[in-house]
Amino acid sequence: MQTNFRKTDFIPQPKAAADSNKKIVIAVDGPAASGKGTLAKKLASRLGYAYLDTGALYRAVGMATLETGGNPESWAEVQTAVQIITRNLTPELLASPALRTPEVAEAASKVAAIPEVRQALLDYQREFAANPPGNVGGAVLDGRDIGTVICPDADVKFFVTASVEERSRRRFEELKATSPDKGAILSQSQVLADLKRRDERDQSRAAAPTKAATDAYVLDTTTLNAQQALDQAISVIRAKFLSETNDNTVAMRKPPQP
Ligand code: CDP
Repeated sequence: MQTNFRKTDFIPQPKAAADSNKKIVIAVDGPAASGKGTLAKKLASRLGYAYLDTGALYRAVGMATLETGGNPESWAEVQTAVQIITRNLTPELLASPALRTPEVAEAASKVAAIPEVRQALLDYQREFAANPPGNVGGAVLDGRDIGTVICPDADVKFFVTASVEERSRRRFEELKATSPDKGAILSQSQVLADLKRRDERDQSRAAAPTKAATDAYVLDTTTLNAQQALDQAISVIRAKFLSETNDNTVAMRKPPQP
């Protein structure tokens, strides 16, 4: 007997999916450490969709640029790194802890401001959304421009925010928990300064700046834990899909296994 099944586990079948083979796309954008990655991952697992952390693509290009001794602000010096990375976009690379350091985050934000870099990574992201791996029903992509540039027709769009103080607290805790070299951890005020600098660069760049799509649902997670953010997002998705669906196409998602 299933005991942990909640009413929010009834995800209606969206009309688009009922009509055709079209995959459902959920866009999750927002600034650094806003909780978008955690939310997107949990949504994907809850809905049985594929998940793509698009920040990892820029981080991989940033890391490869640093490794080849290039300047992450110069397209001429980033070009080789882009070629290497676009030919080696494996799930292992994108999940690598080596991408999570503050230096790589900074380099990622610099390479991400170069229009040619964004163009080179566009097809991979769109292809992932249109044909998610594993023959699943949809994809959840998190990033900065998913709802505005990569998938402007996404079925549901979230823009996840949180106060910069709360975001720096979360990033500091994350770095403390994951850094292999405890001596190299930045202070919380350094983490705050890094985040502010990166926010400013990501929001003010000409190419696909971080911003909420006009049809995005803005989710402020400053006072929400991960479960509460997930619950809110699920109710937004249910409301959206229910409003597009008539009763006889409502499908019940399989309850999670204990
Ligand atoms: O985890 P966090 O939010 O700190 O960063 P991330 O999502 O891994 O992204 C790293 C950097 O890549 C950001 O600072 C952005 O400059 C860039 N990025 C982007 O421009 N567009 C995306 N779709 C994703 C990330």
